[in-house]
Amino acid sequence: MSIDLLIHSANQVLTLAGDAPKRGATQGDLAILRNGAIAISGEKIVAVGDTLDLLALADVHTRTIDARGKIVLPGFVDAHTHAVFAGDRANEFEMRLKGATYLDIQKAGGGIMSTVHATRAASLDDLVAQSRARLDAMLAHGTTTAEVKTGYGLDTATELKMLDAIAALDAAHAIDLIPTFLGAHVVPAEFKGREDEYVALVVEEILPRVGDWRLEIRNRQSNLQSLTSNLYCDVFCEDGAFTLDQTRKILTRAKELGFGLRVHADEFANLGAASLAAELGAASADHLMVTRRDEMRALARAGVAAVLLPGTTFGLGKTNFADGRAFVEESVPVALGSDINPGTSWCESMPFILALACRYVRLAPAEAIVAATINAAYSLGIADRVGSLAPGKIADVLIADVPDYRHLAYRFGANPIEMVIKRGKVCD
Ligand code: NIG
Ligand code: FE
Repeated sequence: MSIDLLIHSANQVLTLAGDAPKRGATQGDLAILRNGAIAISGEKIVAVGDTLDLLALADVHTRTIDARGKIVLPGFVDAHTHAVFAGDRANEFEMRLKGATYLDIQKAGGGIMSTVHATRAASLDDLVAQSRARLDAMLAHGTTTAEVKTGYGLDTATELKMLDAIAALDAAHAIDLIPTFLGAHVVPAEFKGREDEYVALVVEEILPRVGDWRLEIRNRQSNLQSLTSNLYCDVFCEDGAFTLDQTRKILTRAKELGFGLRVHADEFANLGAASLAAELGAASADHLMVTRRDEMRALARAGVAAVLLPGTTFGLGKTNFADGRAFVEESVPVALGSDINPGTSWCESMPFILALACRYVRLAPAEAIVAATINAAYSLGIADRVGSLAPGKIADVLIADVPDYRHLAYRFGANPIEMVIKRGKVCD
């Protein structure tokens, strides 16, 4: 077997050992190798071990990279993003600084609906171009796989346009994208006062159409490695968005149609969405800023990942961060995401999310790194392919110019990621 790429002599290789999610006492299990090396052939990792042993595998065709004084880790998996959208909402940021709340702005017709107008007006090419710039920045900060939600269309045609944009970017961009249908992000303005009619439209028309889209995409994409064939459905269960009953209707139908489930739960008010996620066997419950302990235990029993999003709390200028420590204590697999979106969290940097998670979500640095790699992969159903460094896995590997893993969260505001290797290729 010929080795194409060999990274060696790393101060620390954070292997994260294996495919299983980590929770409770193992949430911080990085499985570190000192003076470690990784051998890559094609798109795959073929060996992980001691530098001296692996250097023996190199031949004249092997490109070697000396990672002395640095650390090597799996590419970040961003478990929750709204990275595809048109326009921006800098005006709302300024309104919030003057005292308006996020939900006030939404009720007055701004917020998510303002991005819906911009996204409906954008052509597919424009949507792809605007979103590509964000993916470039995410990749430079170490994100090699990201979930991306729709939810700025809120009609059949624009929701499908967003899915097409995600598929086009997945094919053209180095980052692998996992799509999530979020047609129930907010009730669109044209359905004001007829909320249940919109829910019926989602359940009866848009969801089945999106299910068909998935089959078409599976047939179109020849690359069997593509992660896009996973498809999730998410609902924003919140005052001013969707009630618990409406959320249940949509997610139940989605489950029948074969979608995996995620839910925006307990971001502002606790409507019971975390318990619903546990009951329906969702892949993840996300945000979770006001979740009770008994609900955490229900998530743990059902194996639902808690996707915590400190960028959102920070982005809103608030301080009521999700209590990650409590989720770890209750043995829920904790994952992290950037929640990149134009309203609450325009953040392309997973290292910055780690910095926030350690200070405010009460995760230890090792726990936060697990949350941003193998546990995020688990929440997306792809932990068998990405999220740790092991033979047979996709070669998504980062080199960070820091001597110890704690520096990833300890420092902030600059980019510690020096090199990104995506599916075995060095990204420039
Ligand atoms: O995760 N909460 C709902 N969705 C996003 C915000 C989207 C937006 O404001 O455009 C969130 O915070
Ligand atoms: Fe979100």
